[in-house]
Amino acid sequence: QTLILLYGGRSAEREVSVLSAESVMRAVNYEKFTVKTYFITKSGDFVKTQIFDEKPAENEKLMTNATIDFDKIVKASDIYEKDAVVFPVLHGPMGEDGSIQGFLEILRLAYIGPNILAAASTMDKLLAKLVFETVGVPQVPYVAVFSDDNLQAAEQEIAEKLQFPVFVKPANMGSSVGITKVGSPSELQAGLKEAFKYDSRVVVEQGVDAREIECAVLGNNGEVSATLPGEVVKDVAFYDYNSKYIDNKIEMAIPAVISPDLQQEIQNYAIKAYKSVNGTGLSRCDFFVTADNKFYLNEINAIPGFTQWSMYPSLWANMGLKYSDLIEKLVELAQS
Ligand code: DAL
Ligand code: MG
Repeated sequence: QTLILLYGGRSAEREVSVLSAESVMRAVNYEKFTVKTYFITKSGDFVKTQIFDEKPAENEKLMTNATIDFDKIVKASDIYEKDAVVFPVLHGPMGEDGSIQGFLEILRLAYIGPNILAAASTMDKLLAKLVFETVGVPQVPYVAVFSDDNLQAAEQEIAEKLQFPVFVKPANMGSSVGITKVGSPSELQAGLKEAFKYDSRVVVEQGVDAREIECAVLGNNGEVSATLPGEVVKDVAFYDYNSKYIDNKIEMAIPAVISPDLQQEIQNYAIKAYKSVNGTGLSRCDFFVTADNKFYLNEINAIPGFTQWSMYPSLWANMGLKYSDLIEKLVELAQS
């Protein structure tokens, strides 16, 4: 079977995408799959890159923006191949927001990961919050501001409803683009201005002093399972070596050291949140947990970082599902 990998992409997170794709290429079970890869440039061109029938050599380098072979640019629809499954290993706008998913639907290609709705609704911070609120998933207090609102009134509402510091975020952006941490009401205007550069809809969230606990979810519609949560650890001295993983300089504790009750609640709410956006394939649900064990869903990443050492695959490895089997499971889900 052909597995088509789309990587690179137009968003600020293209480097993560390249690393994830490389990891997938090295781990795929080549007795079952042929892997065809397409690199998407910063400007959105599709470049036909390598085809692998067997595990790539250690020193085989992937194509990146720096090494594009412009002779190999193809029409986006040229990726089509009957019965192939596509893995869009792409993050952020134009990868994780429903656009590429819609394109693949039109081509009638099966693909791994979120469908249009799951991608679009989790990429948009305001929409995601509204859906999670509706189904009762705990979130930090927030205020939505639109660019044509009376900003003085908005600032007053924020000061009344939220405690500083707050985070001002454009609704539609990935990674940390356009986000400002605002420590006092006097800096609010500057934060809003920055966020409005990227979107006319802005979300202002109350900052919390919290641990970052993440849960991996896998499945379609009715049949969804969640892993034991892991933690993004800043102060690692406390954990023993074996529970420590390194991912792009982020250190992880897997499983997170939290009470069994909290573990269970986080798993339940991760699944609930995933189902509320009609999640398909996979998602990493990121929570904040405070010192007094209050927890809040921060966001859902519908296409989480996917190197072999990233949080999402590591959480599944901890449950006994190893990386190459996880990829196979995702291919199965894409076809179901
Ligand atoms: N947005 C990055 C890729 C992640 O959440 O893993
Ligand atoms: Mg993200």
